[in-house]
Order: sequence, then C-alpha cells, then structure tokens
Amino acid sequence: MMEKIFRASILNPIDANTWRFFQDGALGVDQGIIMRMGDFTTMLSQIDADTEVEDLDGVIVPGFVDVHLHWVQHRVRGRFSGELLTWLREYIWPEEARYVDTDFARAAAAQFYGDVLRAGTVMGMSYSSPHAEATQIALTSMRGDWVIGNVLMAINAPRTLTDYSLHDPDALRAFMRQTDITHYALTPRFAPNLTAASLKALGQIAAESPCLIQTHLAESVAELQWVKELFPDAAHYTEVYDRAGLLTPRTILGHCIEMRDEEWRCLRARGSWVAHCPTSNEALGNRRMPLEQVRAYNIPFALASDIGGGPSHSMLHVMQRFLGVHREAGVSVVPQEALYRSTKAGAECMGRGSIGGDLTVGKRADFVLLPQKPAVDSIEHWFEECLSGNPTDLEQRPLGTWLSGARVA
Ligand code: GUN
Ligand code: ZN
Repeated sequence: MMEKIFRASILNPIDANTWRFFQDGALGVDQGIIMRMGDFTTMLSQIDADTEVEDLDGVIVPGFVDVHLHWVQHRVRGRFSGELLTWLREYIWPEEARYVDTDFARAAAAQFYGDVLRAGTVMGMSYSSPHAEATQIALTSMRGDWVIGNVLMAINAPRTLTDYSLHDPDALRAFMRQTDITHYALTPRFAPNLTAASLKALGQIAAESPCLIQTHLAESVAELQWVKELFPDAAHYTEVYDRAGLLTPRTILGHCIEMRDEEWRCLRARGSWVAHCPTSNEALGNRRMPLEQVRAYNIPFALASDIGGGPSHSMLHVMQRFLGVHREAGVSVVPQEALYRSTKAGAECMGRGSIGGDLTVGKRADFVLLPQKPAVDSIEHWFEECLSGNPTDLEQRPLGTWLSGARVA
C-alpha cells in the first residue's frame, strides 16, 4: 500500500488546556498508521508528486473514546430515567436479561457498533450483560477498539442475571483464558452485587492478569446508603474495593460523585482513573461530579456516555453537557478540555496512549470529520457550535469516521 494524504482542517488535542489547529492541514496515512501530520503546503515539499491526496471538507479530529458504557443498554438509552436503584431493577436488569438470547445479542451488537461509529466513537470500554455468550458476541463482532467485560453479579439482583454470572473465580479464570485479554475488562458490576469474599477473589484475579478493571463507585446517595448497610465495617465505599485489591492504575471507576476527601486521597494513591459521565448523572438525577475535587487531588479522568444511564452514545453530547454542568455550577472549563477528555485522555485511561487517542505520527489513523472549516481566529467558538443541538442531531453530526485510515461511516 502507498501512503495517502487526507487534506482538511485538523484539530488535535494536546492536553486539558491546549489543542493545535491547522487551517489547511494534512494527515498522511500508510497501512493504517499516521505517517505525518501538519500543514498541507509544508508537507507538499516532502511527498512524492504522485502521492494520492483526498480533499475532505471539514475538520479532522481524533476518533472519540468512550470509557464507560453498557452496550447491552444501547437499545433502551434515553427511554427510562429515575433513581438509580429503582431504574436498575425496573428497567435495566430486565433488558439485560434478554441478552441470554444469542440471536438477539448478535443483532443488538451490530446495531450498537454501527451507531457508535456513525457518531464518531472509535474506542472505549464497555459493560456487557453477565452472559458469557453475549460478551463473546460483543468481542467477536467488535468494530473499533473496545475493552469489554461480562458484568459479575452474584447477589441482590434477579436470578435471570445472577444465574448466568461467572462470579465463581475458577469459571471466570477459564473464560478469561479463552479471551483476548487486551480486549477484556474484569467487571464487578458494583459492590452491592458481590460479597466481600467474592470481591477479594476478583482482586486476586486482577493481580494475576494484566487486564483492565472497571466498576461503579459512589454514583448516588441511595447506593452509598446501601453499601453502608451491606459493608458496615468499611470506613467508606472506596475502601470496599481497596480492601479487595481492586484499585490499581488499570482500574476505571464510573461516576465517583458521593466521595469524601479520604476517598479521593485513596484513589490518588492507587493511581486509579475516573470515568466521568455528566449526561448520565443528569438523566438519573444524581449530583454533579465535583470536578474541583478531581482537579485538586489530581485524579486522572476521561469522559463517558454511560449509555443507557446516559441518553445518547454521542460523545459530542457528553462534551456539551460536560461544559454545561460544570459552568452552571460556576466551575471554569474550556472546550480544549472537553475534546482532550473525549480522545487522548480516554486512550491513556485504557493503557493505549501510545496507540491512539490523538493524531500524532505513529498512532493508528482513527479519525472523525466534523462539519465546516472555522475561521482561524474562532476555533473555540466553532467547536462549541459543533457541540450544540439535541442528542439525535449530535449522533448524526460527524460527516464521516475512519478506522486505520479506512472509511467506515
Ligand atoms: N450501577 C450498577 N449498575 C449500573 C448500571 O448499569 N448503570 C449505572 N449508571 N450505574 C450502575
Ligand atoms: Zn455504568
């Protein structure tokens, strides 16, 4: 294969405060990898005259990374809301129980991957149902770069789910042996669905395997109260996971809202990541994640849709509300951070910082084309315009999505 140049405006995230913009940019791709990136006219002098150039009308940004969603809730995203625990029992757990049916699961997986690529998401972390087969289906029909785990849930849930859970450590080890561990996440659903002893056994597995670990932490007040009753001798919710050895730099914790100072200190000491899900938190009536605390304790975090808690899989929608909810609370947050937390930070969170997440040379050419070239002096304004609209608009806003340099949506 020959190198191909994509010519368009390019916006590349650098960090939480910085991005780099090329009005007339170029991205050189060979065998799915970014070979060069920069200003088109400068690049012209460095490439062969017969190099293929494709003009794209819009702005190239890195493909989005969604570090916390439930693919088995995609069909019902935005359909239900309400207090977390009631919402789980009444709507979500019955929906997940349907994934025992492999034909149903296969059709839902195809729909899910098609929809997220259309919306510009190329990478992420996904909770499956407890079923081994549905999880295998999500792994084998994967489009993009996903890390997926069957939720482990042994107690305090309907038997339509707990009967299928691989919460037995040996059954889980056997399942993990036949799974590509680079795409697998150990996924205790949340503390109320497991005993202290099972959590500890999972911590043991986490220590044996290089896999990522994902769970929910301190999402709602009622959940916090329930954890207190179930684990009366734990100093706080975070300690329930910490005692089990589940908090590591490979651990991604969804939500982290109802947190005390010592819990932030614990996360900081363990190097664990937070998956911040502003749209889900709003939809389920939970409080705002205290971004000021996350910043003060220097906790690494990335953005996520948490579908079906979040009403949409669009990371543009998540970015819109990320800026919205914190600004409404008087906390300053810039569009540069919204883009960074939805791309590069997500890849870093997944241990794939050297593979993807931005458009630097050597990384995989996973990118999205957003509409309309902005005037050079108003990139922030253009980007915020790109984030405006309702979830359905935003799901359709990208003009195209490319995986390893090949157009897929
Ligand atoms: N806590 C435990 N399970 C879930 C879930 O499926 N969604 C959300 N938002 N929180 C959870
Ligand atoms: Zn979740």
